[in-house]
Amino acid sequence: MIKALVLYHSQEFGNTGKMAEAVAEGLRSAGCDVTLFNTNNGRFDASTFPQYACVAFGSPDYYSYVAGGLKTFMDDHYILHTRKGVEGMKGKPYSLFYSHGGGGRVREVMINLFKYIGTLVGVPLGCPGAPSKDILSKCRDLGRELAKKSTTQ
Ligand SMILES: Cc1cc2nc3c(=O)[nH]c(=O)nc-3n(C[C@H](O)[C@H](O)[C@H](O)COP(=O)(O)O)c2cc1C
Repeated sequence: MIKALVLYHSQEFGNTGKMAEAVAEGLRSAGCDVTLFNTNNGRFDASTFPQYACVAFGSPDYYSYVAGGLKTFMDDHYILHTRKGVEGMKGKPYSLFYSHGGGGRVREVMINLFKYIGTLVGVPLGCPGAPSKDILSKCRDLGRELAKKSTTQ
């Protein structure tokens, strides 16, 4: 079974968390074994990252930037894997989603930051405020698209 990670931060209203759950549903419906981790609950252990075949990152827009927990993950990831040239760390399929209060400039930041992970799958999915049924459906679609890309690699 393909192991997938949904790594996100959600704190204020649970908006990003609802999107993360829907992305996870899409991944599961396509046959993935999904780990969901909210960096608001602690620091993600980046040493476990190589075991995942694909990853979806979700962040609220915080001052037009990603939440600190996700930035910390990227710092840990670079120190543990990228700099040491760990095998299998290049070309990992990943997708992006974000929640915002009407600005949403975090989108560009996410595109620039997470490019070090591998290959972007799908279009980064943004949502102002609480996610609607339509947005949650698009999140599930994104999860399925990511799973499909990961199994056909
Ligand atoms: C500290 C902080 C900074 C924020 N900065 C922005 C911002 O620059 N642009 C924006 O559109 N929304 C901003 N927001 C709004 C959040 O991105 C938005 O409420 C989001 O849906 C919260 O996600 P969550 O419920 O998953 O925590 C900010 C919220 C907080 C708490």
